[in-house]
Amino acid sequence: MSGIKIRGTGRCVPEKVVTNDDLAKIVDTNDAWIASRTGIRRRRHCAGETHTALCVGAARAALEKSGIAPEEIGVCIVATLTPDHLVPAAACLLQRELGLAEDTLCFDLNAACTGFLFALHTMECLLAAAPRKYGLVIGAEVLSRILDWTDRGTCILFGDGAGAAVVEWREGWTSIGAVLGTRGDDALLRVAGAETGERSFIRMDGTKVFKFAVETVPRCMDQVLEKAGMTADDVDFFVFHQANARIIDLAVRKYRIPPEKYYKNIEEYGNTSAASIPLVLSELQDLQKVHSGSRVLVVGFGGGLTWGGALVEFA
Ligand SMILES: CC(C)(COP(=O)(O)OP(=O)(O)OC[C@H]1O[C@@H](n2cnc3c(N)ncnc32)[C@H](O)[C@@H]1OP(=O)(O)O)[C@@H](O)C(=O)NCCC(=O)NCCS
Repeated sequence: MSGIKIRGTGRCVPEKVVTNDDLAKIVDTNDAWIASRTGIRRRRHCAGETHTALCVGAARAALEKSGIAPEEIGVCIVATLTPDHLVPAAACLLQRELGLAEDTLCFDLNAACTGFLFALHTMECLLAAAPRKYGLVIGAEVLSRILDWTDRGTCILFGDGAGAAVVEWREGWTSIGAVLGTRGDDALLRVAGAETGERSFIRMDGTKVFKFAVETVPRCMDQVLEKAGMTADDVDFFVFHQANARIIDLAVRKYRIPPEKYYKNIEEYGNTSAASIPLVLSELQDLQKVHSGSRVLVVGFGGGLTWGGALVEFA
């Protein structure tokens, strides 16, 4: 038996706050519609900050919180779909900025909004063989770069930001028991690649993605709980991908999760894709809603299609 636990978390968001009223000046929408349909009131957009700067800010904060030095990191994974460059990878640029050792395995991973969960699972597998048993997992996005400002169905949903976690791997610890899935589908959610000749904007069938999410989230939660031999009552905290407050509310009602056991920050940040889950984890740690020994059920879904859940413990 072996597994990872979270030692410390951190986050970094751009300074610029974009309100629903700000968006109503450039697209036919309004605060009441956005807030009631999504729960979003504000989001952050980069105005000068780079993806790399967000990664560095979040990673430094997580290292400091965990008391781990950059030299102790064995693997560094950045989950993202909006890196500054396709090459070099965001993780390699982060390596340079943090001064991570050259034998630290640094790479990016794209599983859209489920990226942080895919990265946690990958980290758990890789740390077993890594020279040092601490890993740095980042979720970071600058989604404002790929928004179509003429499409009111998508441009109001997304924001920029980064969250990070330093994890430790040990023999004898329980695995996070990740349940992950993918289904090739470019009809529901897509960001075009160069070969299509399309501009790289987020294209989404919101209603179908909503349906996919409300089916997938509880299925994934059931599978994680079954794998761990637990019930929802055994879980200390629930962390949901922040895509739409209504999707979270449906899951909360289904599992009768009390208000003190879940958290939403979508009002402040919108959907930040791979950054959404680590942003929540970082705020929870700062608010002391989670602490050493807390077992957190984390669940997400996104383009790919992708989905995933895991039971993550704080060290
Ligand atoms: C995008 C989403 C908020 C749209 O909400 P919805 O209730 O499904 O709304 P619809 O798309 O059916 O649109 C309803 C109406 O609102 C309008 N509308 C769409 N966006 C609008 C906006 N920003 N402001 C005002 N009206 C808007 C539509 O044009 C439509 O008008 P019509 O009835 O006259 O045709 C919702 O589908 C959603 O959140 N889906 C999940 C998206 C998601 O999670 N994506 C990320 C995956 S990681």
